[in-house]
Amino acid sequence: GSGSGTDSAATSGGDDSITMGFSQVGAESGWRTANTKSVQEAAKEAGITLKFSDAQQKQENQIKAIRSYIQQKVDVIAFSPVVESGWEPVLKEAQNAKIPVILTDRAVDSKDTTLYKTFLGSDFVEEGRKAGQWLVEEYKSSTDPVNIVELQGTTGSAPANDRKAGFQEVIGGEAKFKIIASQTGDFTRAKGKEVMEAFLKSNPDIDVLYAHNDDMGLGAIEAIEGAGKVPGKDIKIITVDAVKDGMQALADGKINFIVECSPLLGPQLMDLAKKVVKNESIPARVVTEETTFTQEQAKTALPDRKY
Ligand code: AHR
Repeated sequence: GSGSGTDSAATSGGDDSITMGFSQVGAESGWRTANTKSVQEAAKEAGITLKFSDAQQKQENQIKAIRSYIQQKVDVIAFSPVVESGWEPVLKEAQNAKIPVILTDRAVDSKDTTLYKTFLGSDFVEEGRKAGQWLVEEYKSSTDPVNIVELQGTTGSAPANDRKAGFQEVIGGEAKFKIIASQTGDFTRAKGKEVMEAFLKSNPDIDVLYAHNDDMGLGAIEAIEGAGKVPGKDIKIITVDAVKDGMQALADGKINFIVECSPLLGPQLMDLAKKVVKNESIPARVVTEETTFTQEQAKTALPDRKY
């Protein structure tokens, strides 16, 4: 569940069975819901006892959860850090207690890489680059200015920082691309709608929306339609994730391009956890495989989309 402090432990037997404490970011997006499901199902499948807690997008809740996992002496801790900074004290506590930590989905900015065993997740900078590359291609024969608004993910989070940087890196080479407004929508539909409404009020001439996830893009579509404009036509939209609702909007022509970010990290996480607990060596970084979708590709992929 997503209530505050909800903890749940799956029942599983065996004396040598592994217990994992998992601190999830929250339930802010369709991506996150799919990710939680993947982790819970994969734990069951692997016979790993999972202690799961939802931090409701608050770092203090994640730190509390990690401390409680240390106290409970779990075999391994996995977490998806809501923001990049501020983790060293609690990670040192885990290290002192000799409990291995696996970063899932999002990174921390600590230089001390001995504080965790591996980092499993997407290359968010590359995702931002892919978004930028589509835009460059789309406007390659135009010399007019292209006015872009950006809905950023959660302030201070790895995906917000990196998706912004990768996009900027690619479009920055051409002066016609102008980011005229950029604000956080906290990865939620409600915030995406609210911020897009404000963007539309203060900027009559928006050509492109770059949203750091599908949910904010979907909220923004409501704002655009509310303002009497046609999403996908009057304003072109690029998002990241490729969850089912996003893919549907892409197939319907309301979104123009989606960069995939896979939430299905559960099975790889459980494999890594088993190895870590047995002290086997694992790679320091495991990058998720991902693709991109045009409107035509979304129509083809949609019937088999699981999340
Ligand atoms: O960290 C991954 C990001 O978090 C997803 O792209 C976004 O939808 C989620 O909230």
